[in-house]
Amino acid sequence: MSSQDIPEENLPAEHGGAHAPKPADDKNPFADPGLPPHEHRIQDIDERAAKRSERTVALLFTVSMLATIGFIASFVAIPHDKSIYVWPIGHINAMNLALGLTLGVALFAIGAGAVHWARTLMSDEEVADERHPIEASPETRAKVHADFKQGAKESVIGRRKLIRNTMLGALTLVPLSGVVLLRDLGPLPGTKLRHTLWSRGKLIVNMNTNEPMRPSDIAVGSLTFAKPEGLDEHDHGFQNEIAKAALMLIRLEPEAIKDKQELEWSHEGIVAYSKICTHVGCPISLYEQQTHHALCPCHQSTFDLADGARVIFGPAGHPLPQLRIGVNDEGYLEALSDFAEPVGPAFWERG
Ligand code: FES
Repeated sequence: MSSQDIPEENLPAEHGGAHAPKPADDKNPFADPGLPPHEHRIQDIDERAAKRSERTVALLFTVSMLATIGFIASFVAIPHDKSIYVWPIGHINAMNLALGLTLGVALFAIGAGAVHWARTLMSDEEVADERHPIEASPETRAKVHADFKQGAKESVIGRRKLIRNTMLGALTLVPLSGVVLLRDLGPLPGTKLRHTLWSRGKLIVNMNTNEPMRPSDIAVGSLTFAKPEGLDEHDHGFQNEIAKAALMLIRLEPEAIKDKQELEWSHEGIVAYSKICTHVGCPISLYEQQTHHALCPCHQSTFDLADGARVIFGPAGHPLPQLRIGVNDEGYLEALSDFAEPVGPAFWERG
């Protein structure tokens, strides 16, 4: 039943605030479509329908109250370690199930009751609220302008140019003190992240035995971890230094080496690469003999050690830096220089 079918005398009184359409004019180029005619709901014109809605809302609120009482009763009465079988979930804790169900019903019933109340019984008449201009009136703007000019005149800033200029200088410079304080955040790293303990003539020492290594100590297909001579794990700063200088030595068949520079920087198929992953600096520890792949365990970056340690998988952005090596007069393996590029994560290159 729509409001058109109801005798005029039975309809509720119209509220004020009707909003009629307005055509566009010179002052306002957009036409105002106004509000469509208000349609009365059955509850607005039939008291029995309104009573039914009222009872429905009251029922939902009562269900919510009962569910809340059920929630409290479940908490008190159900042993916390009791479990029940619920198809198809299986065995679950009985108290959790009861608490969840009762609380869910209590909240749902409140929400459903409120929505039904709003949709059927609260007023649904649309009211247009006219917008008011937010700009200040011309009088207010003129007063602010006059006050500003008066203030500037009284402060003599226009006449005393020396004061004005020095004040502008002071206000410009004072924020610099905050910038200078940033310098106190720590010592500048300088170039120390670019250099490691490796240098020409440094012997390559086995990380496990602490002995200098000869080429014959390294079998084809093996992976050995090494450090520079003179670096002892009891030294102060050992962790900082080994984090940059840790080395992997791998012996390949020379003909398996695909990269020309890698071959030149190797010795009898022994290649030396930084052990520090170029992604975020985890130590690389896995080596696959057949494929010559080294794998970082942190995020699975994989490097081809027979091809310049190029990244073949994973998030690392750079190949592992290679250390140029040779043997000294006594037949021990030695470094022929420091790494040619920063080791570890790529962001060090910005240091
Ligand atoms: S640190 Fe090696 S892959 Fe992330």
